[in-house]
Amino acid sequence: MKKYGYFDDLRKEYIITHPDTPLPWINYLGTDSYFSLISNTGGGYSFYKDARYRRLTRYRYNNTPFDSNGKYIYIRENKTGKFWSTTWQPTRHTMEMYQCQHGLGYTTIQSQAEKIHSKVTYFVPLNENLEIWKIKITNHHTHTVDISLFSFVEFCLWDAQGDATNFQRNFNIGEVEIDSATSTIYHKTEYRERRNHFAFFSCSEPLKGYDTQREKFIGSYHSMESPVVVENGNSLKSHAHGWAPIGSHHIEVTLEPEQTKEIIFILGYSENKKSEKFSPPDSQILNKDKVNQKITYYKDPKNVEDAFIALKRYWDQLLSKFTIKTPDVHTNRMVNIWNQYQCMVTFNLSRSASFFESGIGRGMGFRDSNQDILGFVHLIPEKARQRILDLASTQMPSGGAYHQYQPLTKRGNHELGSNFNDDPLWLILSTVAYLKETGDFDILKEDIPFENQKNSEKSLLTHLELSLKYTLDRLGPHGLPLIGRADWNDCLNLNCFSEEPNQSFQTTANKEGKIAESLFIAGQFVYAAKQMNELFIYLKMVDKANHYSGAIQKMEEAIVQHGWDGEWFLRAYDDRGHKVGSHENNEGQIYIESQGMCLMAEVGKKMKLATKTLASVHRHLATPHGIMLHHPPYTRYHLELGEISSYPPGYKENGSIFCHTNPWIMIAEAMNGNPEQAYNYYLRINPSAREHLSDLHRCEPYIYAQTIAGYDAPTFGEAKNSWLTGTAAWNFVAISQYILGIHPTFNGLAIEPKVPQTWLEYKVSRLFRGVIYSIEVKRVEEGENPSCEVDGIQVNSSTIPLPDVSKKEVKVLIKIP
Ligand code: BGC
Ligand code: NOJ
Repeated sequence: MKKYGYFDDLRKEYIITHPDTPLPWINYLGTDSYFSLISNTGGGYSFYKDARYRRLTRYRYNNTPFDSNGKYIYIRENKTGKFWSTTWQPTRHTMEMYQCQHGLGYTTIQSQAEKIHSKVTYFVPLNENLEIWKIKITNHHTHTVDISLFSFVEFCLWDAQGDATNFQRNFNIGEVEIDSATSTIYHKTEYRERRNHFAFFSCSEPLKGYDTQREKFIGSYHSMESPVVVENGNSLKSHAHGWAPIGSHHIEVTLEPEQTKEIIFILGYSENKKSEKFSPPDSQILNKDKVNQKITYYKDPKNVEDAFIALKRYWDQLLSKFTIKTPDVHTNRMVNIWNQYQCMVTFNLSRSASFFESGIGRGMGFRDSNQDILGFVHLIPEKARQRILDLASTQMPSGGAYHQYQPLTKRGNHELGSNFNDDPLWLILSTVAYLKETGDFDILKEDIPFENQKNSEKSLLTHLELSLKYTLDRLGPHGLPLIGRADWNDCLNLNCFSEEPNQSFQTTANKEGKIAESLFIAGQFVYAAKQMNELFIYLKMVDKANHYSGAIQKMEEAIVQHGWDGEWFLRAYDDRGHKVGSHENNEGQIYIESQGMCLMAEVGKKMKLATKTLASVHRHLATPHGIMLHHPPYTRYHLELGEISSYPPGYKENGSIFCHTNPWIMIAEAMNGNPEQAYNYYLRINPSAREHLSDLHRCEPYIYAQTIAGYDAPTFGEAKNSWLTGTAAWNFVAISQYILGIHPTFNGLAIEPKVPQTWLEYKVSRLFRGVIYSIEVKRVEEGENPSCEVDGIQVNSSTIPLPDVSKKEVKVLIKIP
């Protein structure tokens, strides 16, 4: 099978050598407020904070050829009139060389045509709301060449939803300003009225010309492949009034043989105070004072270089908090680099903006963001802290949660509402993970409102208790938790009964919801409540601990009594009280989620249910491409099950390998003493280990995808929906905490390796509460006993207590059988 590139682990890059990858292989620029998505052929879009409400540039999903619209630069050799684009798309010309380096927070695309080499580096400097495109062009002819450069971005009219639909308005509102003196194009649609923000696109060179009206630049009935302006080599100095504002600079460059020229483009977002919007104040002219300072700063190549170095240093430092050296290259590069990187991206963007998520429909998911914290918290605990507080502030007094909130307003999203009954429990998992990582118990005392309402504040600890109460207040006929609209599986809609194609499975509930119960939430409750109990015991709140022990025990009993199918856990009871996920069903006999959750919660430990359950998972759900969500998939629509049965067999929630759930089984295998199987499952979905299958897998080989088509799909093994998935966080948890065995506890860092026998040794360096733990794990030699030494001194526990405050480094040597 064909490979499209390779990993460069030293540089922390994936290098793409063929531009025609099976799907666009993308990267994310920006770590804080300004984000830019960029593919290996320059496609993508940018936004400030909120991919729906503050979209800077326009992208066309679902277009042909795909990956349409981006951050393009055309080069035209003036003598011959030949032209091409530095990123291959949109011209898709024949190239003498091509290479795309996706690195951490930057992408560099090199190409060469007609002996003219270009290298464009795209990145977002730290703490800035702008992106830099730095281009270096070199003439490899033996004669001098005259070239014209045309940059191109198409502006989005801010609200990406309206932008894509409301053309009767959109075609009339576009406004720009052009300042030739600073080579800057300002996009200021709606600035005259309620907006106080605008976009800018500037360039370090004097302009030969510019264009700001798309139709003029491209030409009517032309395409991005051959815009008339580029064809003719002459910009038209078009000024957009309405229609489709773009930014295009025209620059002329003369290059001697082997001469290189560097040019900087700056695309960004800026705001002015309401009182300072215009200059002069009584005019309608954009006040550019503040933004022009930024622009001037980044036109200086030295400052750009410094910002790039700072970005690299930032990532090196972040990733140095957790590094490993194991015998397996796939594990090393995913854990050291890409999995942590993806955890940052999912933390920042939840499920909002990718090449599969349009950035319009979904804000920050309550369930999703809480889980993202699990894989992110060690990187920047302070940000995780803020996120926990933001999420908790949207919680309702009942303990229920808005399913999503909008990042710009941080308010719960009313359209989607609440009643996904698993949601509140995830807040416990994220908070406990944060506490274990940081020891910052003060967070529990923070006063946090409900539904962002002033004067409704209660402590975070109270919020967490309400999360438990929410489940306990909603138990069904078997004493198991009611499912509500859905639990983790958004498509298991047991109260929906939709016969109307225009209804949303997510928001329609045609039944009262007093019968359908979820074994997933049951397991999740036990899992979360046990963590709360551990916390109460740590805080010496014995009464609380006792109280919840009772609730846990009752729930476990209900699960074992009503939720055990003989060889695995049921998935649910539907609204008629019928079993879902039972051997009695013809389809959907066994589901992964309830097995994973119940086993992580150690339900049925005394009865040793884990071994039997895991054998069933292996027998019925495991494939070479990962573990399927359920099997057999549904072949027809089931009114009583909802969206799950709307997907063709083997896709998405209908029996695909929904990668998010696989780590739960890895964890369960590791906990149940079967590291070989845990690791084997880990490798099945590890993207690097699947790199050689790129033609089948199709998504990026450096990033987890949400789903891989299941056994029953015609495209078994094909991944979709890369980047924004809980798979990132959970796989990081599974490999780092359960397989490599390094997990934070309230009392210190625990080290409990569960690695395959073939691994004779491995090393981990882990920053934990300000202390670097240099950990070496080795197999015992003949005649030796397993042992654990901390700074040369034998200890008896696998949890290493924090050292004396003066000590910043600890060496741990562990010998395992
Ligand atoms: C998808 C789910 C997703 C949900 C969110 C469904 O169509 O299949 O994976 O969670 O939409 O709205
Ligand atoms: C994707 C959603 O973002 C997540 O919340 C959900 O758990 C899975 N799909 C499964 O439906």
